[in-house]
Amino acid sequence: MAYLSLYRRWRSSNFTEVLGQPHVTETLMGAIKEDRLSHAYLFAGPRGTGKTSTARILAKALNCERGVSAEPCGECTRCREIAEGSSLDVLELDAASHTSVDDVREIRERIPYATAGGGRKVYIIDEAHQLSNPAFNALLKMLEEPPGHVIFVLCTTEVHRVPATVVSRCQRFEFRRLTGETLTEHLKHVAAAEKMEADDDAIALIVRHARGSARDALSLLDQAAGVAQGRISRSTILEILGEAPEDVLLDLAEAIASEDILGVFAKVEELVELGWDPRQLLVQLLEEFRALFLAHRGVTDAAVDPEHAERRRSLSVRFTSAHLEWVLQSLADAQADMRLSTHPRLTLEVALARSSNLEVRETQTVVARLERLERALLHGSAAAAPTPAVATSPAPEPAKTSEPATKKVAASKPAPAPKAAPAVAQVDGTIEQQWEAVLEAIGAVSRVTHTNLREGWVIDVNEERVLVGFEKAFHADTLSKRPEHVERLTSVFAQVFGRKLRFEAEIRPGGRGDAPAATEVSEPTAIDLVRSGLGAEVVEEVSRN
Ligand SMILES: Nc1ncnc2c1ncn2[C@@H]1O[C@H](COP(=O)(O)OP(=O)(O)O)[C@@H](O)[C@H]1O
Ligand SMILES: [Mg+2]
Ligand SMILES: [Zn+2]
Repeated sequence: MAYLSLYRRWRSSNFTEVLGQPHVTETLMGAIKEDRLSHAYLFAGPRGTGKTSTARILAKALNCERGVSAEPCGECTRCREIAEGSSLDVLELDAASHTSVDDVREIRERIPYATAGGGRKVYIIDEAHQLSNPAFNALLKMLEEPPGHVIFVLCTTEVHRVPATVVSRCQRFEFRRLTGETLTEHLKHVAAAEKMEADDDAIALIVRHARGSARDALSLLDQAAGVAQGRISRSTILEILGEAPEDVLLDLAEAIASEDILGVFAKVEELVELGWDPRQLLVQLLEEFRALFLAHRGVTDAAVDPEHAERRRSLSVRFTSAHLEWVLQSLADAQADMRLSTHPRLTLEVALARSSNLEVRETQTVVARLERLERALLHGSAAAAPTPAVATSPAPEPAKTSEPATKKVAASKPAPAPKAAPAVAQVDGTIEQQWEAVLEAIGAVSRVTHTNLREGWVIDVNEERVLVGFEKAFHADTLSKRPEHVERLTSVFAQVFGRKLRFEAEIRPGGRGDAPAATEVSEPTAIDLVRSGLGAEVVEEVSRN
């Protein structure tokens, strides 16, 4: 005989066996006893909380051969047929696969016939929110003039997608997630009855993972029993969970696209709590973003299932290519750091915080303000008037900048700037001032170039080249090897220095200690921290008027 999955074998067969929904089951039992059932019910709630089971129990209660009863026998032919889903008096329609009017019409055509045994027909419409509008209209007609011997039970996980006209004609029950305690007890009971041995912390992990769904909990226990040699331990469960499911990764990517930093943190928290390893998550995220990057350029991976590919594609267009580059770079950096990190989760979170660029941009704005303020204090207001010179220069960014907020460059200048600089101005002054102007100009053009450049410091400028020191080869390489960066740099150098200059990088592992440029302004450590932690940089001035 084919193996029947645990959650099917353990389907509640009586109202009293439906756990955690007394507000539903007790009300229904009362209504059956007093013969005041509604014509239509709406069972709403998360999956695996007992909606379908309860609908079938209701059908049995009304059709049991031993008479209508809140406690159907479960043994007679009709009870058994209903339990097996083969009864003609109980029609289960899965709206997910029957969305059309015809399907609803079929129900209507069947309605005139009373049940074989004189009971009441029960029509269960699962995932009711998926019905098409015409199908809903057809259903509505039936709900308006329901024949006496028919009861409709609409089940849905997304009640907000069911038209209000339909909802208002049904008696509505909310199915709740089962509490951890109820699930734990249930799992222990099932495990014992099935002669499975499971450690308490394995059960606890399953319960956390199932998030109130009895079905998910039982499925996981089932899988664990298949994998474990003997006793089910916590590590058995972790082994099964293995890689984070693809849709979870896309959820994370979506939060990043929406710059929903709190959402990102909540997701990471959830995943880590559930036992996923931050290192593993990072690797998978890198792969997902690589795929998103390709999808953004119209390259699809034939190997993934179409639904996932479609979600990936539509998500990818919500990113600009600059943002995707930025995320990839942040994640790649994190991977390098991860090897040494004693707090891999923190490393992951910082990388994701950087990736969700709203946070970074906001920090950038704050850092920009602080820097200007600081410069004003140190050098007087003349130095405080910055030269965000390239406000009008076209941004040579890759196409598809569907990100309206990004490029509102220097709309306002908070510092008093009486001698407002022309849009593109050659900057005289010390090499540090010129370098500041370069950084600011680059910031207005490209976040990615800017982030890399600000890791460096100017060493020297002569007639041919600008020599920039970097502590890490990574940033130097990124800038010198990628044509788009080189192009941006050369064009900004020309603006600031008034002549065509090459970009030249030099690695100085000791840092800028011996560099001529960086001695004058020492920055507050708080800024340093924010900046290095979040990849902060000056890209944007946001007008607060
Ligand atoms: N409230 C519950 N009490 C006990 N078991 C449940 C409950 N809800 C779901 N289950 C388990 O999950 C399986 C699927 O439940 P089902 O009634 O189809 O959930 P839903 O229709 O809400 O998705 C059942 O066979 C049973 O094993
Ligand atoms: Mg169901
Ligand atoms: Zn019966």
